Amino acid sequence: MIRVGVLASGSGSNLQAIVDAARDGRIDATVAVVICNVPGARALERARVAGIPTELLPSKGVPDRDAYDREVVARLRAHRVDLVCLAGWMRIVTPAFLEAFAPSPASHGCPRVMNVHPALLPSFPGLHAQRQALDYGVRFTGCTVHFVDSGTDTGPVIVQAAVPVLPGDDEPALSARILVEEHRVYPLAVQWFAEGRLALDGRRVSLRDAAAPMMDGVLNPSQDR
Ligand code: GRF
Repeated sequence: MIRVGVLASGSGSNLQAIVDAARDGRIDATVAVVICNVPGARALERARVAGIPTELLPSKGVPDRDAYDREVVARLRAHRVDLVCLAGWMRIVTPAFLEAFAPSPASHGCPRVMNVHPALLPSFPGLHAQRQALDYGVRFTGCTVHFVDSGTDTGPVIVQAAVPVLPGDDEPALSARILVEEHRVYPLAVQWFAEGRLALDGRRVSLRDAAAPMMDGVLNPSQDR
């Protein structure tokens, strides 16, 4: 059973997905602590309802990013966290933070910080990924769970799910469709980490004992009549 620390700034629906998966025994993980940087964020309430310890560390107006992240790392360590899941954490983590959760023998050589992003990286990194996808006019977008490195949404990809962009989509509609997939794949990635099935070679992540991939393609717009 691994101990997960979740960092959230907002609604916390991905936090909820991980909490639910842990509660239902779908992942060999327990959420040991939720750290939030925004007072009143819904993620805090979700954690309290689930009986998970919370740490509120307001970041607004805190100029020293290194000192802030040192405090976050100290809290994560105090809760003996094995894996850090960024779930709508609206901050770039510092190199010292990543160093504190660098690959270890216990993590089978994998970094110990993950993030979920609402696009098929490397497309549309950064803020407003759904808006970027709509503006670009892509037929598919989706979500990506990746290990975190020092760039913005640039770390090695663990799992992605594709989502069609449909006629008439606006940002809320597309975001909602993507979130359904985020809630499916983030717990999956946590479980693979917990099982020690992830391996990192360069920036390529492989999954030990994975089922054979399906080879059929998906078209959008569909040609089916
Ligand atoms: C998600 O879309 C996630 O991909 C992005 O921030 C959003 C967080 O949503 N990083 P929630 O707080 O988990 O509901």
